[in-house]
Amino acid sequence: MALHRVGNRDETVEDIYSTPLSATVLPKYQVPQESSDPRIAYALIRGELALDGNSSQNLATFCSTWSEDEVHRLMNDCLDKNMIDKDEYPQTAEIESRCVHMLADLWNSPDGRGTMGCSTTGSSEAAMLGGLALKWRWRQRREAAGKPADRPNLVCGPVQVCWEKFARYFDVELRQVPVEPGATGLRPHQLRKYVDENTIGVVAILGVTYTCDYEPIADIAAELDAIEADNGWDVPIHVDAASGGFIAPFLEPELVWDFRLARVASINASGHKYGLAPLGVGWVVWRSADLLPEDLVFRVSYLGGDMPTFALNFSRPGGEIVAQYYLLLRLGREGYRQVQQSCVDTAQFFAEQVRGMGPFKLLYDGRGGLPAVS
Ligand SMILES: Cc1ncc(COP(=O)(O)O)c(C=O)c1O
Repeated sequence: MALHRVGNRDETVEDIYSTPLSATVLPKYQVPQESSDPRIAYALIRGELALDGNSSQNLATFCSTWSEDEVHRLMNDCLDKNMIDKDEYPQTAEIESRCVHMLADLWNSPDGRGTMGCSTTGSSEAAMLGGLALKWRWRQRREAAGKPADRPNLVCGPVQVCWEKFARYFDVELRQVPVEPGATGLRPHQLRKYVDENTIGVVAILGVTYTCDYEPIADIAAELDAIEADNGWDVPIHVDAASGGFIAPFLEPELVWDFRLARVASINASGHKYGLAPLGVGWVVWRSADLLPEDLVFRVSYLGGDMPTFALNFSRPGGEIVAQYYLLLRLGREGYRQVQQSCVDTAQFFAEQVRGMGPFKLLYDGRGGLPAVS
């Protein structure tokens, strides 16, 4: 008969699920008094995360659900870098600037090398910054003309909630144009009823969140030209290209929706959607540097040199920005085209299957807009 020594646990062979921590309900309301072995804490939290959905089966997200190993490695390399500290991490700052200028060029800015833009936490923050610049410029124009500047409004179609937030947080009236029967977004002929001298801008969507197709941005610009000719109101467009900003340039380069239209003042896109970067990065770019009012830019000196920032956040990780640069470099235009084309092929296949099932009415079948179905 074998003899076993009892009462003296050998921790080197201890199974995670026989440890005291695993025998308790994990803390929910109070920080535990004692510390825990990292291996055990990690395994128990990982076990809890297994209760989440599987992101690779999540068909309802526009966001990245897969990344190459190199992206994981770069994220790890940057885990400890604060992108706001541009003196301490000048190369991360340089990489952010390269992304801005590459995107300005991709979106046909007349001055891609000289224009302004920045990274954000996503399209929501980017929308806030784009909206603020519209509001500031409108107010400057009104004040210069000696006119009241206390009732700004923003005109848009069926926008994502970030624009409702912008309007409420920054005290702007949101004039949301109702979708007409049979339409899937804002239509140019609707604008006249909503635009006036207090309109800070029109938001046009490249990839409507609910229907996934593109609003006709060139026609919207032409209608605003006509409104200006009739009334003298010079109303700029901000394009919310959260999803489409990384699709249209690769799949439909001839589609004119971007800075080729003189009325398009700024564009936002989510790097973490079809930009293919990991979660936590968006972009906003202005057509030219003069469209970003100087007094929205704060200069902070306490981390070292003179650091101009336009952002709602301060500290933020640098990894997502670096990963975005990696993807632009690694895929190039041709790589992005191939990835987006295979997504389109899948969406169209999926649309046909759904149509064939019978009971569903397809609003959008993956043709001419985002690689998606509605
Ligand atoms: C058109 C549009 N704008 C803005 C957003 C918000 O983007 P983010 O999640 O990057 O903040 C979304 C998200 O789906 C969107 O579809």
